[in-house]
Amino acid sequence: MDPTLGTRTLLCLSLASLLHLAWATCEASNLLQLPLGTLGALEGGRDSHGKADAISLSSPEFSALLPKLDAKMEPLTVSNLKGDLDCTMCLQMVHAFRNTRPTLKHPGVIHTGILLPEGAGNFDGWVESARKLRLLPMSFLASQDLQNVKLYFWANVEQTHPLIQEIFAPLLEQYGKYIEIKRFDAAAEIKKVCSHYESNTQSFSNLTEELVKIYESQELVDSQSDLMRLFLLYNYGGAWMDSDTLLVQSLSPLLEEDWAAYIKRFGPNPCALSSSKPQSKFTTAWLGYIFQLGVNMTWAAYGPHSLDTMVHEIQHSVANSTFQVLPGCFFEGVSNKGARAADEEIPRGRQFFNSTSLESLIRRRNYIDPRSRNHSTFGYHWHNQWWNKVEDSSMANAAEKLYCELLNIKLK
Ligand SMILES: *[C@@H]1O[C@H](CO)[C@@H](O)[C@H](O)[C@H]1NC(C)=O
Ligand SMILES: *[C@@H]1O[C@H](CO)[C@@H](O)[C@H](O)[C@H]1NC(C)=O
Ligand SMILES: *[C@@H]1O[C@H](CO)[C@@H](O)[C@H](O)[C@H]1NC(C)=O
Ligand SMILES: *[C@@H]1O[C@H](CO)[C@@H](O)[C@H](O)[C@H]1NC(C)=O
Ligand SMILES: *[C@@H]1O[C@H](CO)[C@@H](O)[C@H](O)[C@H]1NC(C)=O
Repeated sequence: MDPTLGTRTLLCLSLASLLHLAWATCEASNLLQLPLGTLGALEGGRDSHGKADAISLSSPEFSALLPKLDAKMEPLTVSNLKGDLDCTMCLQMVHAFRNTRPTLKHPGVIHTGILLPEGAGNFDGWVESARKLRLLPMSFLASQDLQNVKLYFWANVEQTHPLIQEIFAPLLEQYGKYIEIKRFDAAAEIKKVCSHYESNTQSFSNLTEELVKIYESQELVDSQSDLMRLFLLYNYGGAWMDSDTLLVQSLSPLLEEDWAAYIKRFGPNPCALSSSKPQSKFTTAWLGYIFQLGVNMTWAAYGPHSLDTMVHEIQHSVANSTFQVLPGCFFEGVSNKGARAADEEIPRGRQFFNSTSLESLIRRRNYIDPRSRNHSTFGYHWHNQWWNKVEDSSMANAAEKLYCELLNIKLK
C-alpha cells in the first residue's frame, strides 16, 4: 500500500479502536471555550467562574447556551472530556441551533478536498473512490442554503483529472454554480497566509520559507492535509469538512463561528472545523502554534495534537476564547449514540458501506435525511473505509439514492 495512504488507514483504525471503548455509553455535552493567542502569549488564569469571554460569538442564541455547558465542564480538565454525561442535552443543543441565525451575514463557504499521491490517477487500494467522494458534494447540495453558501472542492490536480471529472460530471450541469473546483497550490496558499500573518510577529523574518519547509518535509498525507485546511480556513474563512463526511442540515447557524468537532477520548478532531472569517483568532492562534512547533514529523502533530494542546492551554490562561469544541453528536454521532430520535440509528464506525436489514437501513437513512424536520446532527463522519465496497443495502447506497432523488440526478 502506498505509504501516504497507510497513514489514513492508521487514523481510521486508531479512531475506531478508541471509539469502540466509548460506544457503549453516551458522552458529555462538551462545548469548550478556548483561549486566544499563541502559546507564548498565554498567561494568567481563568476567572473564578471559569467562564470565558465569548468574543468571537455573534449569535445570542449560541452565547446563551454557553454558561450551561461551561458549568458542565467546570473545572475543565482532560478527565472531563472523557466523562459520561448527558446525550439528551447534546440532542437538545442540535435542536436549539436549528433555527438560530438561518441566514449568514456574509456569503459562506464550505471547503473540502483531496491530496492525491504525486502523479497518481487514483488512490491505491481505494474502492469506488469517485462514488464515495461524490457523497459529500451531493449532501452539500441537498442540505445547505445554496443561495448563501458555496462548496469549494480543493485538489492537488487539475479539474480535467479523470477522478475529478468522474466525481463531478453528474453534478455540474445542474449544480455547477454552487460548487467551485479549485486547484490546491500549497506554495501560493502559504504565500497568502504569510502576507497577512507577517505583520503580527517578530520571531521570523522568513515565515514563508519556514511554512513551505514545514509543509514540504511532511511525509504523511494526514499532516499535509491538516496544514492544507489550516491554510484554507486562514485565507478564506468558512468550514472545512473531511471528504468522508456527509452534511445533514444547514451549517448556517454554526458557519460564522470558530469551532472544531470533537470525539470522545480523542479530543478535538479536524474532520470538521470552522473559522468565522479569514484570519480569525482561532486560525491565527493555530498558525502561531505551528510556527512554534516547526518541522515535526510526528503523526497528527499539526492537527489533533496541536488542537488538543490548545485545549489544554485554557487551563493556564486568561480565557479569551478563540474557538469552541463542539459536542460529539454535532458531527461524530458514533461517539454519542444516544443523541438521536427514536426512528433513527447511528451505525457503528465501520458499517457505512456494509449491508444491513431493511429496518435498520431506514433508521440509518432517517439519521442523515436532509428533509427531516428535527435533525439530531449537523453532519455524519463515516471514517475512511475507502477500501470497502459499497454494498447494495448499505447506508452509503441509501444516502446516494436519496440524494439522487432529492437533486433529480441520474448516475450511470
Ligand atoms: C484578553 O483580552 C483582553 C481585552 O481585549 C486583553 O487586554 C488581554 O491582553 C487578552 N489576554 C490574552 C491572554 O490575550
Ligand atoms: C529562517 O530563519 C531562521 C533564523 O532567522 C533560520 O534558523 C531558518 O533556517 C530559516 N528558515 C528557512 C527555511 O530558511
Ligand atoms: C513533535 O510533536 C509532538 C506532538 O505534538 C510532540 O510530542 C513532540 O515533542 C514534537 N517533537 C519535537 C522534536 O518538537
Ligand atoms: C425533536 O425531537 C425531540 C426528540 O428527539 C423532541 O424532544 C422534540 O420535541 C422534537 N421537536 C420538534 C419540533 O419536533
Ligand atoms: C463490511 O464489509 C467489508 C467488505 O467490504 C468486510 O470486510 C467487513 O468485514 C464488513 N464489516 C462488517 C461489520 O460486517
